[in-house]
Amino acid sequence: MKDDIQNILISEQEIREKVTELGRQISEDYKGKNLMLVSVLKGSVVFMADLMRAITIPCQIDFMCVSSYGSSSKSSGVVKIVKDIDDHLGGKELLIVEDILDSGVTLEYISGVLRGKGANSIRIATLLDKPERRKANVTASYRGFIVPNEFVVGYGLDYNEQYRNLPYIGVLKPEVYGG
Ligand code: IMP
Ligand code: MG
Repeated sequence: MKDDIQNILISEQEIREKVTELGRQISEDYKGKNLMLVSVLKGSVVFMADLMRAITIPCQIDFMCVSSYGSSSKSSGVVKIVKDIDDHLGGKELLIVEDILDSGVTLEYISGVLRGKGANSIRIATLLDKPERRKANVTASYRGFIVPNEFVVGYGLDYNEQYRNLPYIGVLKPEVYGG
């Protein structure tokens, strides 16, 4: 698995420190509020697991599953809801937890779906942001790292459903995806 990685972009240590910082900020901002974290499967599951433990205020969690990529490293632009969340979000402050904000098409779509469910507010926390590739008008309120326009894997992010269990964020060797 490691042999397919060209270089480590963000180390375990750097991720840990950033997630702790994000958790502290979110806990401060949502103090006294009815916070609900919505994780977008599967890529954000590792970030979600760490972030929720870095949050020190009461919160609920739920999961959504969408697919937009198929097995290719390029976005198809097509988003499909595979698993939705509960409809009764009245009085809740939603924070969507994502692995990476790339074109933004996925998050724009998800935000739209969630907006119809009666939450007080909807914001986004993303571990990675690839602003160079943005197509949709989406911004994250919380963002871990800005990454260059390279295909990255690890810490939940996959290529062909592989590499999600790497503990760091790495750049895949182009020959792995035929680049
Ligand atoms: P968007 O709709 O283009 O913003 O795509 C968001 C989704 O694409 C993310 O949740 C990831 O699953 C996937 N994605 C985008 N860039 C990468 C990458 O560099 N590595 C792995 N997955 C990626
Ligand atoms: Mg994903």
